[in-house]
Amino acid sequence: MNQTAPAPSQQASEQSVVMLIPRINFHAFCEGQGTAGIVQAVAADRRFSKAHVDVHMGGINAAIQVYQQQKTPDVLLVETSKSRDEIMVELGNLAQVCEPTTKVIVVGQVNDVILYRDLTRAGVSEYMVAPINEQHIIELIAGLYSDPDAEPVGRVTAFIGAKGGVGSSTIAHNIGWYISKNFGIDTVITDLDMAFGTAGLNFNNSNMQGIAEALKEPDRVDSVLIDRLLTKCTDKLSLLLAPGTVDREVNIDKSALETVLDEVRKNVPYVVVDVPNIWAPWSKHTLAQADDVVIVATPELASLRNTKNLIDHLKTTRPNDSEPILVLNQVGMAKRPEVPAAEFAKAVGIVPTVVIEHDANLFGTANSEGQMIFEVSAKSAGAQSLEALAHKLTGREKSVDKKSSKFSMAPLLDKLKGMGKK
Ligand SMILES: Nc1ncnc2c1ncn2[C@@H]1O[C@H](COP(=O)(O)OP(=O)(O)OP(=O)(O)O)[C@@H](O)[C@H]1O
Ligand SMILES: [Mg+2]
Repeated sequence: MNQTAPAPSQQASEQSVVMLIPRINFHAFCEGQGTAGIVQAVAADRRFSKAHVDVHMGGINAAIQVYQQQKTPDVLLVETSKSRDEIMVELGNLAQVCEPTTKVIVVGQVNDVILYRDLTRAGVSEYMVAPINEQHIIELIAGLYSDPDAEPVGRVTAFIGAKGGVGSSTIAHNIGWYISKNFGIDTVITDLDMAFGTAGLNFNNSNMQGIAEALKEPDRVDSVLIDRLLTKCTDKLSLLLAPGTVDREVNIDKSALETVLDEVRKNVPYVVVDVPNIWAPWSKHTLAQADDVVIVATPELASLRNTKNLIDHLKTTRPNDSEPILVLNQVGMAKRPEVPAAEFAKAVGIVPTVVIEHDANLFGTANSEGQMIFEVSAKSAGAQSLEALAHKLTGREKSVDKKSSKFSMAPLLDKLKGMGKK
């Protein structure tokens, strides 16, 4: 018990360790509706999507009744409101019907170190004092299944545009490139835009093998196949390319895609997923499952509406995760009327992490040369903003250089604070 996730050798984010929960059976026998509600909420969390969760009432005695007839699950949570001695007696009875492999979590009312020690000695994986919370249970169960010798799984960041053509792919590719080059983190950029994906073009690579082959036979997906389908871009950066052709149609099955991404993240610490602006079961599922979601938007009305809808959707489907990261891109385009950044932020309820100015020359040159923004001009405001975003995503905080950017976030933040006080 009390295992904590290993300190990864080359951890992608300093903010939090990625938690994965395998295909386990998790049963809970609660006494109060409060605990039952928390376990129900845990069952709905993205990290439990592979687990099977059953919630019952009746506490330890109900569990003893049930497991006289059936095998105990991988993880069993029992709640009790009894005293220290009574808990030990009840657990002794539970032990009679409990498989030795079952990990038992006890939730009680007594905050007592002697009880904690006795329970640990009796083989209980964890004792928690009520009230419990979702995050606590998720971390605890993830910890029970994290092998201290295993390589940590990679952090998945999904990028999606609030509408077509906002620059989501460009930003995703530049972030993947920067993280691999400047932080020395092995990174894979996965392009999910099967027919029109631009990762190959942006990195000057015409390999057509990649994600489509992996999706064809998800049962065959393993590290050897993924390795074969990856296009090596630099020492630290590989691409899982989309075919980028309309010759064939690729149907994406959401669980096949999850299998592929799970395999990719087993092999590298950072995975950038370029999700096209398509609302389909597989794109929704990929956003729901990612560790971080970046929404790229332009300062226009349609983009604002869609950003608001995406944020609302993500807050509902990912209640235990931090809110999506917002990037406002192509700001200050000549002659285009715009929604001011502060108004955009107020309407969607999230302040953009970075505001990137429209720079046709910089982005156009990168585009036509198959280069990254940093390679075209590392000192440009666009490069500085992208750098700040890469720092934010990996937990390495760095503020945008105020001199080089016309779009410093400081005045915007001040303005928003002021609005809140009114
Ligand atoms: N800040 C910017 N200033 C000027 N041009 C930009 C900027 N950001 C992106 N672009 C350009 O906008 C175009 C669209 O970019 P990109 O393909 O990355 O968008 P997308 O959101 O992925 O689009 P799609 O919906 O096709 O997937 C590209 O030509 C890119 O170079
Ligand atoms: Mg794109």
